[in-house]
Amino acid sequence: MSAWLKPKRVDDAAHVDPDEFRRCMREVPGAVAIITCGEPGERTGLTATAVCSLTDAPPTLLVCVNGTASAHPVICRTARFAVNILAEADLAVAGLFAGRTGLKGEDRFDQLTCTQAPDGSPIIEDALASFDCALEAEHRYGTHSVFIGRVLSAATNPRRNPLLYLDGRFGTFAETAANASSR
Ligand SMILES: Cc1cc2nc3c(=O)[nH]c(=O)nc-3n(C[C@H](O)[C@H](O)[C@H](O)COP(=O)(O)O)c2cc1C
Repeated sequence: MSAWLKPKRVDDAAHVDPDEFRRCMREVPGAVAIITCGEPGERTGLTATAVCSLTDAPPTLLVCVNGTASAHPVICRTARFAVNILAEADLAVAGLFAGRTGLKGEDRFDQLTCTQAPDGSPIIEDALASFDCALEAEHRYGTHSVFIGRVLSAATNPRRNPLLYLDGRFGTFAETAANASSR
């Protein structure tokens, strides 16, 4: 029988320096998502790489959202959010929802085409994949909340190249030569 392991309490002095942690994390590539939430008129969202599949039984995602993000209180209040995975052509959308244009909330949505999931969140029409989620649990840790969302509906627009983020830069995916030539 398996049991949860109780994490050992680690001495503060043994923790890695936050700058060193960030330097190492810059080497970890991530898919770029827009987490959206809210009803028309009060929609908001953020660019995020802290998104992952938790389990497929039942289909569940987790996202990590800073408490200062405009989406944070909206997700807490509505208990809904959506995850939209960006394609390489959506670079401008990534900048828009990372606060790089100065536009906020609804003004960001004027720049793209969205549908609204029934009783749910904005779904970006051209996203590579979109997941409409109901909030199942929230775990607050330091500056962020881990939001766990049960996936209520999912859709994909396959065959577009994903937008990726690595070492502070946006980029895209290329197959290795060996892989491409084996087709
Ligand atoms: C590539 C990239 C990834 C990001 N990932 C996250 C993330 O996973 N969680 C988070 O809270 N903020 C993340 N951010 C920061 C938010 O996108 C940014 O703070 C955003 O402006 C917050 O939304 P607001 O301006 O509506 O408050 C990321 C930013 C970038 C550029």
